[in-house]
Amino acid sequence: MCVIVGMTPSEIYLIRKSFASLSRHEHVAALVFYRRLFELDPGLRALFKGDIEAQARKLLDMLAALLSLLEKPHGLEVELREMGARHAGYGVRTADYETVGRALLDMLDETLDEEFPPATRAAWTSLYGVVQATMLEGAAGRTPAAI
Ligand code: HEM
Repeated sequence: MCVIVGMTPSEIYLIRKSFASLSRHEHVAALVFYRRLFELDPGLRALFKGDIEAQARKLLDMLAALLSLLEKPHGLEVELREMGARHAGYGVRTADYETVGRALLDMLDETLDEEFPPATRAAWTSLYGVVQATMLEGAAGRTPAAI
């Protein structure tokens, strides 16, 4: 059991396995993610500056940040809080975390298809939940987080 994330070894295994599959479809994954995100909330477009290549890198940064929690959980809480505070500075609101989480899960589902069974979905949901909660704690320290 990973103490910080509260995830079991089998959940961690499922996330790593699906992340490895996803890295074979990086470009498609980015297109699917942003299409879904902006479909859920067109207003979020304004937050992302740059072309699709730059956006694709941001998605990879986001996934890497999620995965790094599994690789080196110790001391990462502080980093995640700082990242949450930076996100408040980008104009990200509390409600946007739900939207991004949904777009992320839908993207994984569409891109990985049968390589994204319910147990893998559940594992990603827990991981995203922990990261979201920690980032929001950091964001709350910087600006009023709720909208
Ligand atoms: C689990 C949740 C999230 C993770 C792990 C994550 C991760 C990251 C990382 C690592 C970066 C690179 C810059 C930095 O570290 O500050 C970044 C940038 C960014 N994120 Fe997130 N993010 C998350 C949620 C969100 C949400 C909910 C939004 C709202 C739409 C968002 C919007 C952005 C934007 C707009 C940038 C780029 C800022 C710029 O380059 O101008 N992120 N994110």
